[in-house]
Formats: sequence, C-alpha cells, structure tokens
Amino acid sequence: MNNNAILNRSLAAVWHPCTQMKAHETLPLVPIQRGEGVWLVDFEGKRYLDAVSSWWVNLFGHANPRINAALKDQLDRLEHVMLAGFTHEPVVQLSERLSKLTGLGHAFYGSDGASATEIALKMSFHFWRNSSQPQKTHFISLQNSYHGETLGALSVTDVALFKDTYAPLLRQSVQVPSPDWRLAEPGESPEAYALRCAEALEQHLQQHHATTAALIVEPLVQGAAGMGMYHPAYLKRARELCDQYGVHLIADEIAVGFGRTGTMFACEQAGIKPDFICLSKGITGGYLPLSVVLTTDTVYAAFYDDQVTRGFLHSHSYTGNALACRAALATLDIFEQDEMIKANRLKAAQFNELLTPVAAHPRVRNFRHLGMIWAFEVETADAAFARNFYQAALALGLLLRPIGNTVYVMPPYVLGEEEMALLAAGLVQILER
Ligand SMILES: Cc1ncc(COP(=O)(O)O)c(C=O)c1O
Repeated sequence: MNNNAILNRSLAAVWHPCTQMKAHETLPLVPIQRGEGVWLVDFEGKRYLDAVSSWWVNLFGHANPRINAALKDQLDRLEHVMLAGFTHEPVVQLSERLSKLTGLGHAFYGSDGASATEIALKMSFHFWRNSSQPQKTHFISLQNSYHGETLGALSVTDVALFKDTYAPLLRQSVQVPSPDWRLAEPGESPEAYALRCAEALEQHLQQHHATTAALIVEPLVQGAAGMGMYHPAYLKRARELCDQYGVHLIADEIAVGFGRTGTMFACEQAGIKPDFICLSKGITGGYLPLSVVLTTDTVYAAFYDDQVTRGFLHSHSYTGNALACRAALATLDIFEQDEMIKANRLKAAQFNELLTPVAAHPRVRNFRHLGMIWAFEVETADAAFARNFYQAALALGLLLRPIGNTVYVMPPYVLGEEEMALLAAGLVQILER
C-alpha cells in the first residue's frame, strides 16, 4: 500500500467527518500508517507531529506501550459484555476511581462526547420530572458553546456553522453571554468581565428558573469557539446562582478534563462541584471511544424506585465497554505513576519560554495559555487562512488545525524538548510566510 492508493480508496469508500468532501479535490487527505508517541507516520515514512492530539483525545502518545500492554491483557480476558444486567471488573474499578477523582458518583457510560451530553440533559430533565417539577424543560448554555452534534447536544451548542442548517430539527435553548475574555471591553479584567457575564446569567435565572432544568458549560475553555478562555470566578458564581435558583449545573469536561487545563478537572480551579460532569476524549488516552456522566447521590436517589419508568432507561450497546474501560484505567495509572499534573506544569513553563517569539510576533493577538493548551489569533486578510495554515504546517511535518484565524496547540503530554522546539520554530516560520 502506498499513500496514493489509500487516498483514492478512502475518498471512494469513506465519508469523512466535518468535511465538504469536494474540498478534497484540491486538499489531499493525509494517509496514516502508524503512530509513535507524538508522531503520525504516513505510508512513505513522512512524519507529522500531532500538535492537536488527534482532535484533543490523545494524552500519552500514539501506540503507548503501557496502554497497549493493558489492552492486550484485557483482550484475552473479556472484550465486551452488555452492561444491563451484567457487570465486569474494569467498569467497576474505573467508576470507583473516577468517583474519587471527581467527588461525584453513579457513573453512567456512553460511547462518545455527544452521547454524554445527551445523557446529562436527559437525566437533568428526568430528575426534575421525578421531583414533581415537569415544567423544568429548558436548558441554558453559553454563547459560542460546543457540546456535540447529535440533535440534543446540538440544541445547546452555539456554533452557527454546525447548527444553522439543522435549526428546524432542534429544541430551543437559551444562550447567555460568554465569559471568554476576548469579548471583554478594553481595559476590563478577565475577572471583572466574567462577573459581569455572571450578572447576565443571574438576570436570566431570576426570570426563568421555574422552567429551567440546567445550565451546561465548558469549564474554563470554550474549545470549538477557538480556545476561548475565561476566569474561574464565572464558574464559582454560576454554581452559587444554580444553587440559589434550583437549576442543575452540568460541567462538560469532555475536552478540558484529564489535565488539559493544568488540574485533573477544570472545575477544581473554581473550587466547585457540578451536579453532572461529562467526560470523554482523553479518558482512554485517545485509544477507544468512551464517555461517562457522573452525578450526585441526590440525583441518583430521585430515580431509585419501584416504578420502572422513574429509572433512567437510556442505553447504548457499547455502554461501559471493557476494553475502553481498561484503556481508561491504564491512562489513570500513568497520571498517578508519572505525577503527570506536576510534570505538565514544568513542561508548560518550558514550552511557554520557547513560544516567546510567537507571543511577541506582530501578527499575533490574544496569546493565551492554560495548562496544556496554547492559542492565539493571527491578523490576516486571507479568507482561507485556516486551510492555508494547515497546509503550510503539514509541509513542515506539523499537524495544526486552526479554527478560523485562531491557531492553537493542544499536544499530547509526552511532547519532548526537541519536539517543543520544532513546534515553536515551525509556528514562527509559518507566521513569517
Ligand atoms: C466540550 C465538548 N463537548 C462535547 C464534544 C463532543 O464530543 P464527541 O465529538 O466525542 O461527540 C466535544 C468535541 O469536541 C467538545 O469539545
């Protein structure tokens, strides 16, 4: 097999995600034969540094020996069994460990991020219905939010490109102002702006709390909005307001969980506990599709009943897949054994230093960094900036995929010193074109 053969077969047989397929008449697919640490390698040996962790999922590199070993061991024991009426060791262990880490429990599994969003929304509504408040049917999300693209998740997403076409199929939801500090007034601090946005949330809740089931947020970083970052004061205030007005707080940590923002979970930085936390992406180290929603004892208790329909009758065939759970356990082991959160702090400081010329570049605006996420806007008149930047990066052996004119780096945590230098130099080189 060579690059061209697989490209043509892929274009004939595969409908690729998030893509106008006609664009591939001029933009070639990148065929990948194997992965190795932060590198993806094509059929002719060309290497690409995966600086976006393959859509933000990979934490410890491709073909990680420790996750591989765990999966090989699990393969010989049990690949999968349905989770209705049955259980198995990896799912029990994973649920216990996630409960310890999040302070929430009763882990309910799905297969991908969007299904976790669906689960949290349905559970919240059903909780209120079981609690004699069936009128609580509405959801609030932040402006520019992204929570996935199945119909329920898309209803609380606020990205026009993905949403507008399907508007006739979606439920109405309300968007409150986003605390993303890029939207602050000149001279207004990120904290002051976050608190001003919290006031807008309060005004909405004052009027509509009786019919509102939940507020769903991406804690600290709105990824698909172009890595919009905000001050934790917003989350703290949102938690207080949700408590005051009897509305659930759903933390969608699908993208930011598992160390991305510098703590295991982003909510920790605001010192809050949500009513529901949605996890996916990095949960398996980027190996297998798995998502989970954890919630409170109070929510769980409202479903626990003799009446079948008061239970949460939601299911996916691959709920709690044993292989995926085992990959997740191996991932948590690496966090512990390598003291990853601490190690990332040092790595981030090092990379920041190397990125000084990027931050100071005359075309760069809003350079920002949180944990293992870096982002900035690029001043440009190029309407095809994202595509052209992506192609220029590929030519340098870098996988970077801007969102509009926002360039971001969200690398696997195993990024080495030499690779950081390569990435920083590549960014400057592309900016100078
Ligand atoms: C915050 C957030 N929520 C939900 C999702 C949806 O996850 P999935 O693509 O696995 O359905 C994403 C995906 O990027 C995300 O960033």
